[in-house]
Amino acid sequence: MFNKEIIAGFQNHKTPFYYYDLTVLDETLKVINDEIAGFNYKVHYAIKANTNDRILAKIKEYGLGIDCVSGNEIKWAIKNRFEPGKIAFAGVGKTDEEIEYALKTGIFTFNVESLPELEVIDTMAGKMGLEAPIAIRFNPNVNAKTHYYITTGLEENKFGINHWELSALFELLAKLTNIKLLGLHFHIGSQILDLSVFKNLCNRVNDYQREFSDRGIEIHHINVGGGLGVNYQNPDGEPIPDFKTYFQIFKKFLNLRPNQELHFELGRSVVAQCASLISRVLYIKEGIKTNFTILDAGMTELIRPALYQSFHLIQNLSKLNDDPSSKYDVVGPICESSDCFGKAIALPKTERGDIIAIRSVGAYGEVMSSSYNLRDKAAVVYR
Ligand code: LLP
Repeated sequence: MFNKEIIAGFQNHKTPFYYYDLTVLDETLKVINDEIAGFNYKVHYAIKANTNDRILAKIKEYGLGIDCVSGNEIKWAIKNRFEPGKIAFAGVGKTDEEIEYALKTGIFTFNVESLPELEVIDTMAGKMGLEAPIAIRFNPNVNAKTHYYITTGLEENKFGINHWELSALFELLAKLTNIKLLGLHFHIGSQILDLSVFKNLCNRVNDYQREFSDRGIEIHHINVGGGLGVNYQNPDGEPIPDFKTYFQIFKKFLNLRPNQELHFELGRSVVAQCASLISRVLYIKEGIKTNFTILDAGMTELIRPALYQSFHLIQNLSKLNDDPSSKYDVVGPICESSDCFGKAIALPKTERGDIIAIRSVGAYGEVMSSSYNLRDKAAVVYR
């Protein structure tokens, strides 16, 4: 990702900043489109992962739809020229205001997460003289084998309608007159690397499909959510996730009905690898076991390590060809001990002023930043 010229160019910028390599994004999107070509598959980009307008423009170029989880995300998608008819709206806590706005806007579908929400959408659509397009989000109780905080498809999670609510759901669907059932929706978690869990998901989806066909209810599309993980350890070795294997699992194990569409909501796998957080070393400070490398970037710019103990590769770009002979705890300037990007990280002997890259931050990086400690917002640089 980095060569001498790029690193030299970094000297002219105030740190910290997000560095987006749009060529990586291009390549990723191309692979996605190549892999789904010839299949009745549609990919909605999960905009929560990154809302940067240049990123969105690229994603739009490749014809993806958008998966939103708030009224403002829908507004933002539309402002960035995505068609309402390609927008899905999920989330356990849609407000009346958001529902009204989405109905008025004419989005593709509401992914409905509870029975009470279904009733509210039906009532509001009725008042507006509209028919609300919906998909039912089920909680399939499939273990995604990922970090607990980003697991969504277990019974104990707040997301989706559970299997024990199925008969109440069918009763309700038969009664409501202002909704149009289009799809069945599932999403089990994020940063999934053990792809066998998607096979388990397919089995559960097949069970749910059967429940609907047994009652003579036709389903236009199945939406299996997102979740495909990326290689945080080796972003240069594997900059593009294994979309081929991922899509093949669904081809192989999902019993789609004739003409039924299969939808995906990919976030991380689309954008994670196209960005790095670039920072300067402020101080090297002696510690008990390892020395500290204190950066001018902190958890305010990238909260993932503090929140999920997540790993991001850290590189000293000023000394890229030197041996990693020292170990450092790489920390930020924020007044929290969790403001740490990595402990005992092997780096070349590092000095004040060195440029440090924290890799694979394109997903859930910039969007989750905050102004805690009244920090300035990090700048953005593109290639
Ligand atoms: N669909 C739904 C309904 C979702 O809740 C999510 C992510 C996605 C799709 C996209 O999942 P992806 O393809 O990106 O795995 N902030 C956390 C990740 C939270 C994911 C939330 N839901 C992190 O930094 O790891």
